Amino acid sequence: MAKRREKFGSSLAAVMAMAGSAIGLGNIWRFPYMTGQNGGAAFILVYLLAAFILSLPIMLCESLIGRRTSSGTFGAMEKLAPRSKWKYLGFLTVISPLVILSYYSVVGGWSIDYFVRSVAGGFGQDVSSYFALFVANPSRPLLYHTLFIVATVLVVSRGIKSGIESFNKISLPLLFVLIVIIMTYSLSLPGAMEGVKYLVKPDFSKLTPSAIAAAMGQSFFSLSLGVGTILTYASYMKKQDNLLRSGAGTAFFDMVFALLAGFAIMPAVFAAGIEPGAGPGLIFETLPFIFSKMGLASPILSRSVSILFFLAIVVAALTSSISMCEVGVTYLVDEKGFSRKKASIVIFGATWLLGALCSLSFGPLEQFKILGKTLFDFCDHLTSDYLMTFGSLLFVIFVGWKMKKADVRDEFTNGGRLGVSGRIFPVFYFLVRYVAPAVILIIFLSNLLLK
Ligand code: PFF
Repeated sequence: MAKRREKFGSSLAAVMAMAGSAIGLGNIWRFPYMTGQNGGAAFILVYLLAAFILSLPIMLCESLIGRRTSSGTFGAMEKLAPRSKWKYLGFLTVISPLVILSYYSVVGGWSIDYFVRSVAGGFGQDVSSYFALFVANPSRPLLYHTLFIVATVLVVSRGIKSGIESFNKISLPLLFVLIVIIMTYSLSLPGAMEGVKYLVKPDFSKLTPSAIAAAMGQSFFSLSLGVGTILTYASYMKKQDNLLRSGAGTAFFDMVFALLAGFAIMPAVFAAGIEPGAGPGLIFETLPFIFSKMGLASPILSRSVSILFFLAIVVAALTSSISMCEVGVTYLVDEKGFSRKKASIVIFGATWLLGALCSLSFGPLEQFKILGKTLFDFCDHLTSDYLMTFGSLLFVIFVGWKMKKADVRDEFTNGGRLGVSGRIFPVFYFLVRYVAPAVILIIFLSNLLLK
């Protein structure tokens, strides 16, 4: 007899796992900057609309496929569309999260180093060149990258309940507490209000088509869509869980965390009189500079905030990387009959290797380029600009056009038992069949042609 598959202990545990996947580096290093750049409150409005009209339906498509089949991405396609070309979607969504995991864990490793540095007392005399020197020298980034993946794999290898559920139960509340403490400090700094204005002052003239596309792309990345993580987590949900409520809860927590991160970071950036930037530069160059500047006035306070901040980044990155790792582990356990331990070791080996090469692309492998990009940048662009949108497109087409409408409704409403879901179903189905495919296709093509 087949072994019974584990389930999350409660629907809250499932929401926490999904929110853990969603809340990550994307909320901290991209959202605040993008918001400021693209029209403040006007951008937030579009982002909210995109999250609930576009991303939530995609998330629900993944959830209902996963929950209906109790299988990971590959098994789900085999169950719902046996021996068809849809198996390639199953394959693709096993591979994409592992590619993301590889470069994501490099950044996770950097965060560990910064946490350790903060505890040890700072970034040295020349804080502005710390990052460039650190990443160019292979050994420490590699060491921390390894540590980060080991931590990820250890949690996953312990299983859904004792590993992932237990970890998220502690880390998600911890993350919110950390970010609120940092935000309170940041907002108390002289000049902080400029940062608040940067985030919330609505400027509708900045809402260009490319800003709108950026809002949608950010929403995909932030909610971990199109790469099978949500599908895989949903496959461990119970039949009586409410998919709509869990999906909306996940999107809500992700949004709130992104806003808190914005109010934690931008006021400090403006208080220090610095122009905000995006990406690694914002977190790993600008912020340490700010902490060291503040350290002149109150060394202990600035050091404590720096420690808490980099701890928050490590934890946020871990809750996301765990979800990526689980996709590959589920595949090997379900489809190849591996034990969870053995599957975790295999995934460790594969992602460690690709990640190590990504890490070295800041130093010895800098000259090795694919389509003009270093391996790290290539993996980032390939996944966030193409694979996530492409996967999302295929998932909505699958649910909207391949699955039987009655089956979709059945899963969405738990066999007709959920009244509210039943009433919302026609809207959901219309969005999935017509609106989402058209919009995702436009985003995909604009990424392809304009980037
Ligand atoms: N949502 C994560 C973030 O905002 O950092 C990134 C992510 C997690 C992407 C899991 C993809 C994924 F499968």
